[in-house]
Amino acid sequence: MAQRRVVVAIDGPAGAGKSSVAKRLAQRLGFTYLDTGAMYRAVALWALRQGIETSDRHRMEQLALAADIQLQDGKIFLNGEDVSDTIRTAEVSGGASQGAAIPGVRRAMVAKQRAIAERTSVVMEGRDIGTVVFPDADIKIYLDANPEERVRRRLHEEYSKGLTPDAAAVSQQMEERDRRDSTRSDSPLVQAPDAVYLDTTRLNLEEVEEAILKIVRARITNGKVLN
Ligand code: DC
Repeated sequence: MAQRRVVVAIDGPAGAGKSSVAKRLAQRLGFTYLDTGAMYRAVALWALRQGIETSDRHRMEQLALAADIQLQDGKIFLNGEDVSDTIRTAEVSGGASQGAAIPGVRRAMVAKQRAIAERTSVVMEGRDIGTVVFPDADIKIYLDANPEERVRRRLHEEYSKGLTPDAAAVSQQMEERDRRDSTRSDSPLVQAPDAVYLDTTRLNLEEVEEAILKIVRARITNGKVLN
């Protein structure tokens, strides 16, 4: 039977649990996991290292076009360097959110994302996957959680890395980033009309994974599609 590539699109705000669940789903399904936020972060990191303002439209677009970004086994490489950990700072988070509001930067990233999904079935997570990158995605999930819970998860992540985050600062940065990501004019974070809304506030990772797997299995008829 003919096989075709499948796109599972997972969108939602920071701390909704997208990365953790998308990684596990990709593993379960044998699909490629794609963290599109990491791509915007890599561009922002490059800009910060070069002393370029992450709000500078022209220079940010140039960087986004020139950046060699590779995603492999959950790791991200910028111009050949593994930057998987370096992109996880508060400074890079803010810069990524600023850079992601620039249409030229988005165009460059979206082109890379579409090119990857031409080759393989993917679980792709971000802010605009089901709305802009793959409006025809087979499965669209909008993951959400209440703001307090999202901040709590982010703090937990930091503690588990041995860091001692300032809770008030993390909360304020997340609020600011959410506001910017959902109010920008190009591809704001918004639920696609045909996405399934899943509130993860009171669910653990396994429960979220099972809920999404159920949706995936219901949408993909036996044997018709696989990676
Ligand atoms: O998912 P994340 O927090 O690592 O993403 C970092 C920033 O990148 C986020 O503030 C918004 C932006 N982003 C985006 O605009 N579109 C995406 N598809 C993914 C991330």
